[in-house]
Amino acid sequence: MYYNIALIGFGGVNRALADIIATDEEKFYREMGFNLRIVAVSDMFLGSVYTPEGIDLALLAALPVAQGACATLPNGKATAENEDIIKNSNADIVVEATVTDSVTGQPATSHCRWALSTGKHVSTTNKGPLAFAEKELMDLALKNNVGFEYEGVVMSGTPVLRFADKLLKGSEIHQFSGILNGTANYVLGLVEQGHTFADAITSAQKQGYAEADPSADVEGKDVMLKVIVLANRLWGANLTRDNVQCQGITGLTETMVKEAVAEGCHWKLIGKASKQEDGSVVASVSPEKLSLEHPLAGISGAVNAITFTSGMLGDVTVSGPGAGRIETAYAILSDIIAIHQRKEI
Ligand code: HSE
Repeated sequence: MYYNIALIGFGGVNRALADIIATDEEKFYREMGFNLRIVAVSDMFLGSVYTPEGIDLALLAALPVAQGACATLPNGKATAENEDIIKNSNADIVVEATVTDSVTGQPATSHCRWALSTGKHVSTTNKGPLAFAEKELMDLALKNNVGFEYEGVVMSGTPVLRFADKLLKGSEIHQFSGILNGTANYVLGLVEQGHTFADAITSAQKQGYAEADPSADVEGKDVMLKVIVLANRLWGANLTRDNVQCQGITGLTETMVKEAVAEGCHWKLIGKASKQEDGSVVASVSPEKLSLEHPLAGISGAVNAITFTSGMLGDVTVSGPGAGRIETAYAILSDIIAIHQRKEI
């Protein structure tokens, strides 16, 4: 069986997803129990293409990163057609992987809204719709009997949302604390090795870890959105940006980072939230100087880690990749598997 897919945004993540789908169709079917047919792509820079019977994946893989490049494909156009494709294409699943706008959550929120309200499942890696409109979009998905999945927004391909939601269900989680930004962690690691902050950020951008605007990574805004998404999912906390104290790593200097290492410590950007006795939730993002014994002190590079503290289990820590093109594309694949498992389309 096939699911028709529309890719909204065709940057590193959706390109990686297209490559995964193109690799070995038979093996993919054997392992997943379904196949994926990319019927549409729409991207503000590259343009759009809609081929109801499926786009030629070899042509898609070879698409140059040039403005309007989609016009060179059969049925292609130089302009994006996000709304028309989302509402009117034959896609079963819309994969929303456009750039996160951490101030308005748009246009990604509208993309999700259009898809869900026209009866299409959604997988998104975009933190905006979750941080700004999670309840509305969840209600819309329920009303239209479709899936709304977003595993990739908190720790990329490392399955932290489903882990907490499904595998730790009933364990009475009352706190989490984690390294939730791969760029900040990678940058701090390079600075510990003697690089400047500026060079380390450039390197994170080259690796594909950083947001389009890396200030969201280093100022803690990216972690703040992830903390909001996770706290709202775990506890229905209704947190918004106004409820989270947020400080990034921009207040740290190269000297401070190196001095900490000499003391046997590491600076880490920590996002955390805890549920209080009265049911309210307190959340924050800030750099913390951790001694080597701390379970999060040894997490290096773009790796993320999170410790859930629950009444029944105490601390349970999950770590894994928190950023990267293939890693985030895997999160989308895991969303599609969840959509497949929820019911046959
Ligand atoms: N810029 C983010 C990070 C990407 O570095 O963690 C994943 O959300």
